This record gives sequence, structure tokens and C-alpha cells, in this order.
Amino acid sequence: MRSGAAVLTGRTVVLGVGGGIAAYKAVEVLRGLSKLGAEVVPLVTDAATHFVGRATFSALCPEPVRASLWDGPEPVPHTALGRRADLLLVAPCTADLLAKLAHGHADDLLTATALATRAPLLLAPAMHSEMWEHPAVGANVATLKSRGTSLVGPGTGPLAAGDSGVGRMAEPDEIVDAAVSLLYDAPAPSEPPAPSGLVAAPSGALAGMAVLVSAGGTREPIDRVRFIGNRSSGRQGHAVAAEAASRGARVVLVTSSALPAPDEVEVVKVETAQEMAEEIGKRAGEANLIVMAAAVADFRPRARLEHKMDRSRGPVGLELEPTEDILASLSAARRPGQVLVGFAAEVGSDLARAAEKLERKGADLLVVNDVSEPDAGFDVPTNTVTILSRRGVAAKVGPVSKEQVARTVLDVSTSLLAT
Ligand SMILES: Cc1cc2nc3c(=O)[nH]c(=O)nc-3n(C[C@H](O)[C@H](O)[C@H](O)COP(=O)(O)O)c2cc1C
Repeated sequence: MRSGAAVLTGRTVVLGVGGGIAAYKAVEVLRGLSKLGAEVVPLVTDAATHFVGRATFSALCPEPVRASLWDGPEPVPHTALGRRADLLLVAPCTADLLAKLAHGHADDLLTATALATRAPLLLAPAMHSEMWEHPAVGANVATLKSRGTSLVGPGTGPLAAGDSGVGRMAEPDEIVDAAVSLLYDAPAPSEPPAPSGLVAAPSGALAGMAVLVSAGGTREPIDRVRFIGNRSSGRQGHAVAAEAASRGARVVLVTSSALPAPDEVEVVKVETAQEMAEEIGKRAGEANLIVMAAAVADFRPRARLEHKMDRSRGPVGLELEPTEDILASLSAARRPGQVLVGFAAEVGSDLARAAEKLERKGADLLVVNDVSEPDAGFDVPTNTVTILSRRGVAAKVGPVSKEQVARTVLDVSTSLLAT
């Protein structure tokens, strides 16, 4: 038997919170899932915010709280969240939500996400006994169960306003256990997709697509042994390539990093900015999505010395010339429908500067990481990023693993490919 942590680590649980008195207990559910390693995305309905403020969820998890179809971080939030979810859990699930879910309504972010996902649905109903025992509610529950929806609870016990009876939401621990057992049989993110359409489809969202990724820091030779380099490890780009492959894409990774090749990814090794530009340029035409995660040098020595520089010659000057701006060249040559994503390492979180860069380079998205943060940027396993689209901030995550950043980058990119 795998532990809860083994089952939930790396899994994304979208936690829908309805407008019931038990909404405050959703906070404990979030903590329980997070403790076991799940990436929890809180998604509150309008009514839920009468019971618990968004700030409470924000303070407890790195994901922005989602609340609306219209002003969230993703351009098309319901499909982005639906594809990203390994599980959609609703706790508390009110009588109103049971009705909407049973009948396929989609007039808010939670119900629209429920229709736009192939992830399993787990509901924790909570309401007064009279509501729970109403035939309309019973019929909605029967409809949902007939479609394979899982329920945890409700139990019997104290209810709101001093009442007692059936309708009490299951305890947070029970809800977390139910999430673990529902995901127990689903494949872990690193495992191949199962043949069942139910859980495998989100990971196949890039099937038929060609994705080109760059990674690592380039090395610009000074002489036979010395070079100008940077601290980029290549982990972020490798994680993007691995994630794109796991979602079914044909992936080419042009990398200067010594990290191992991700499974199912064609790797092209390069060293300099010029080689990177050439190899990327050769393959760009075929790509539906290009993610430029490499830290390409901005300058290179104008001349490469044939021999090793000799210290006894005293001080020497190094003349530098700018390298090719690969992102700008790709943008100038891109074909219709191709999505272009750049990365920008910034010191400090000056988004105005980054927005100007996005515009100037002509990319669709710019993944901005603040390399002055201790848990972000070069040579660390975690990252903190803001993803800018032409319409503003599309997503903010971190500090989270570079694998999680890769998932978010691909979620946002995929939503652009789809529109
Ligand atoms: C104080 C108060 C407590 C409520 N508690 C519940 C509840 O526990 N369960 C429920 O189904 N509805 C409850 N309701 C009614 C819901 O808030 C209402 O049906 C709302 O539209 C549900 O919104 P939702 O679809 O976003 O969950 C309560 C309403 C109030 C004013």
C-alpha cells in the first residue's frame, strides 16, 4: 500500500469551495492535502467568500486563489484548471452545487471547470438535514453517482445554528483519505498514462503537437580553455521538455546542460549562443510551441584566441560583441498559430520592464523569474515565476519545484494553443 504522500506528491488537486457553513473546514482539507505533497489550487465560489475570505487560502498555499471565469491568472481558466487537475474535489459541496453539477451548469469557474476536466470528481456534501433529505437533492446525488462521481459523507452530528442530524460534512481527515484512495489507482505523474480515458486524457493534451525547448546556459569561448558562462543548470528547460513529452507532444530539446535526456525527448547538444540559434532556427518551422528556457549569453568575445592566454602578458582587455537575439528572430519568422514563450531572469520584480521586453521581443508569454530570490532562478531545484501574457499576468507560482513551474508554463501555453 502506497502512503498518502506517495500517492499525492506532484498531483494537482483543484479544491472547490462552496457557500456553506462548513467552508471554514476547507482550510483544513487544503492543509492536509498540501502536507501530503499535493499541489492544491483553491477555487472558491462567490457564496463561499461570505464564509471564508480568499486571504485565508492565499496565506496557506502558493497558488493564487481562483474565483472567477473573468479575472483569474489564466486566459481560459476553466480549461487550464480542468486539464491541470488530477482531481477536482468540492468541499463543502452545497445543495446548489449538487444541482448545478448534476445538470451540467457552467455559469461560474467551479462548475465550468467541472465540465472541462476529465479528472475524477469527489464531492463532500454539507447541508441541513431537511435539504439533504429533499427528493430534489436525492435525485441530483443519484444522477451524479450514476456518472461515476464519488461522494464522501455526509455524516451525522452537529449542524449550523445549534441543529443536529444528517448533513454534516465529513471531517477534513476523512476527505483527504478519500482523495488519496481515489487517486491511489490513478498513475503517478511519472508513470505512463493508463488506457482508461478518465485519468489519462489530461496528460495527452499535447498529442500531435511539436514542441521545441531550449535549456541551459551557453558558453562563449575566450580562448582554448576559458569561456564566459552563467549559472543556469538547465533544470527548468529540461523539466518543461519532460512535461511536454508526458503530455503527448513530440519534443526536441536543444540544450547546453549536462543533465540527462528526459524520456521520450530528442536531445540536441550545443555550447554557444550561435550554435543554439542555428539548431533552434533549423527546427522552429515545425514547432507548434517553442519554449526558450535557455540562458543564452547576450555577449561573446569578438575574437577567440587560438592559444591559452598567458598571465605574464599583464592586463588584457576583452572586447565583447552582442549575440543574436534568438527570441526576437523566432518571433520575426514565426508562422500563424505558433506559440512562442520566452524566459527572463530579472533581478527584482519589475514587471513593467518585463512587459516591455515581452512586447519588444514579440513573444506570447514571458516567464519572469526573480533571480534575487533565494529559492528561485539558477542552480536551485525550485523557482518562483510570474507568467506574463500580452493581456497581463497570466499566472504566478512559487517557490515550487521546477517541475511544477513547467506544468504551469505548459498549462498557460496550451490554453493559447487552443484559442
Ligand atoms: C448562513 C448560511 C449558511 C448556509 N449553509 C449552507 C450549507 O451548509 N449547505 C448548503 O447547501 N447551503 C447553505 N446555504 C445556502 C447557500 O449559501 C446558497 O444556496 C448558495 O447559493 C450556495 O452557493 P454555491 O453554489 O456557491 O455553493 C447557507 C446560506 C446561509 C446564508
